[in-house]
Amino acid sequence: MIVPYYRPRRLRRNENIRSMIRETQLSPKDFIYPLFVVEEKGVKNPIKSMPGNFQWSIDLLVEEVKNIHQLGIPAIILFGIPADKDDRGSDAMDDNGIIQRAVKEVKNAVPDMYVITDVCFCEYTDHGHCGAINNGEVDNDSTLEMLGKQVITHAKAGADMVAPSGMMDGMVATIREALDENNYHQTPIMSYAAKYASAFYGPFRDAAESAPQFGDRRAYQMDPPNVREALHEAELDVEEGADIIMVKPALPYLDIIRVVMENINLPVAAYNVSGEFSMVKAAGEKGWIDENKVALEMLTSIKRAGADLILTYYAKEAAQWLNE
Ligand code: PBG
Repeated sequence: MIVPYYRPRRLRRNENIRSMIRETQLSPKDFIYPLFVVEEKGVKNPIKSMPGNFQWSIDLLVEEVKNIHQLGIPAIILFGIPADKDDRGSDAMDDNGIIQRAVKEVKNAVPDMYVITDVCFCEYTDHGHCGAINNGEVDNDSTLEMLGKQVITHAKAGADMVAPSGMMDGMVATIREALDENNYHQTPIMSYAAKYASAFYGPFRDAAESAPQFGDRRAYQMDPPNVREALHEAELDVEEGADIIMVKPALPYLDIIRVVMENINLPVAAYNVSGEFSMVKAAGEKGWIDENKVALEMLTSIKRAGADLILTYYAKEAAQWLNE
């Protein structure tokens, strides 16, 4: 029988030593909390497939943001769901649209909260695609023009950062130029650079009422088996002027997060998407897993893989668990 000479277990014997050599520390400061905003007043509409998440009217959203701020979460990302949708998603480019009013009121009430806006059209179009349709396809270049308009309304409303998620070619360059021409040189762009055509977005599309009414998004979002393409997308966005590179989804794409982190010298964000959240939530509700531990392990893994920022529907609960 051998007697081991090396004994890694020496450094695992109690919590003191484990915590001293811990390489990754999860903190509420890592989180960006996604929120959905709708018209009218007094609305707190539960999202069935995402327990604990709601569609908020602006008045109640503002109150919720105060709670989020108190938990030490530094940032939120807002998704607007207008009452009326049309083929070009006009509400998205309106200074008085749902998202623009929401940003204004949140910044007014909680100036310290860092407010990011999702820059896309799928929640605003009646067909549910991420841009203008031409001959049955999402037309890249006319969508770019619309993005240039949209982003100025967000900056005007007081958004601290904009996050284009539509996977249009040239979207980052277009947005940077539009911001700079309008004197928003200080507004950073967090680009959804490597965004996959993922089935993990299912619950979000209920929340944002943004499921495509025909076809799917595979002609503009990335093919899940690819990794080189993610790096190419990230490199293009760096050249175009992105400030932060996002990988999405997160948990099934930890390898992509790692590759981007090792090759791109910008902060990396990862979107722990709706399906990742809902799977853990559902298994927790069934009593099949210990939700709190699994959720924190998942978020820690995303950070360990290389994410500096994590967009997650667990932000509130995880912050509470971490603060306990
Ligand atoms: C598009 C957008 C989507 C998500 C964030 N921004 C949906 C999509 O591409 O269909 C998904 C986020 C999630 O699943 O949590 N505006």
